[in-house]
Amino acid sequence: MKNDFLWGVATSAFQLEGSPHADWSSWDSILSENPDITNHYTMYKEDLALLKDLGVNAYRFSLEWSRIQPRENIWDESVVDHCQEIIEILKGYNVEPMLTLHHFTHPLWFIKKYPWHEEASVEKFLSFVEHIVSSLKGVKYWITFNEPYVLLLGGYLEGCMPPGIKDPALALKALKNILYCHAKAYDIIHKAIPDAMVSVSHNMAALAPWSRWNPLDRILATMAKHFYNHSILDAFLTGQLRIKLPFRKEYIVELPIKDKLDFFGVNYYTRVHVRFNPFKKMCVELRHHDIDGNGLTDLGWEIHPYGLERVLRNASRLKVPLIITENGIATRNPQKKIDFMRKHVDAVEKSIKKGIDVRGYFYWSLIDNYEWLQGLDARFGLYKVDFKTMKRKPTNAAAYYSYLIRSRSDF
Ligand code: FCB
Repeated sequence: MKNDFLWGVATSAFQLEGSPHADWSSWDSILSENPDITNHYTMYKEDLALLKDLGVNAYRFSLEWSRIQPRENIWDESVVDHCQEIIEILKGYNVEPMLTLHHFTHPLWFIKKYPWHEEASVEKFLSFVEHIVSSLKGVKYWITFNEPYVLLLGGYLEGCMPPGIKDPALALKALKNILYCHAKAYDIIHKAIPDAMVSVSHNMAALAPWSRWNPLDRILATMAKHFYNHSILDAFLTGQLRIKLPFRKEYIVELPIKDKLDFFGVNYYTRVHVRFNPFKKMCVELRHHDIDGNGLTDLGWEIHPYGLERVLRNASRLKVPLIITENGIATRNPQKKIDFMRKHVDAVEKSIKKGIDVRGYFYWSLIDNYEWLQGLDARFGLYKVDFKTMKRKPTNAAAYYSYLIRSRSDF
């Protein structure tokens, strides 16, 4: 392994430890039965020791804003100290921290009073960023927002995530405010840490028409690619966000985000087929199919390693280093997890050999955790969690990941 290639695992705070003050806590009844989810908030030392066992040199994790700022004007410094302690432990293990500021969840007071489509959201989020950046020491890699487009689709178009809105106009306003916050957070971080590496983590999917022969499927697939994968890339390249949703006027807004990236975080999981269906919202139906025989995950997502090569090639036009900040599979079958990992790391290797500047790979996730829409059944972990006893047990995929890290010395 080249010393500077980041081999990591990724997690998010809420998915490991929940929070009594988060919007998501009252959203899903499973969380009222088991609010601490994996007990990570108390078992963090034990969990971080697993990183050492794995031999990773990087760890992506997030802050739970609602624990840090449970009420509008109340800051719980003990939670910030807890995060600093995690950073110190990582340093002790020679593991590079990558910190995500926003990973889907919000304090309840924020989402009630200042939802993202309101401009007042910007000031509230940035004061949180200021607070964190001035308090925490020792973090070089920052992710401002995890998957802003997933938040948008779930929270503002489908309504299946908080705040549960289904309104394309509000969705676009929310996206504008979120990307504006990214730009400002980028400046705040760089002012305090000049050599910081800052990005978003963008979920990119391999998108294809359901039928190549159906022009409507093809048009919708092209629109989906432009909206979901590309519009954020273009916004970083030009400072202009252009979004065209089916049957809507193009939305164009100038944003101060041109070049506000030191690397680009790509989250990649699957391929999605796009189909014209007049009975669906905006006439778009999304489907997963096992077309190439690579199989489906327990969540029914198509396993499609070649798609990772494609999205990396697309993202490379940003001309910044790329880091795969998430890639993983929900399965109870460790051999399937091993095959998934090997094939996706092969795709990374091929991309690097073709000249694409990939600097890291983070497997999602370290241990089994709460999955947003599927609860505790989605087993992404390298370590299995028994949600009754909270015991962690390595799957064979954990040993395999360690082996992969040691063996890919020519990256
Ligand atoms: C991604 C999310 C992450 C996790 C994985 C499976 O979209 O960023 O939190 O839920 O999916």
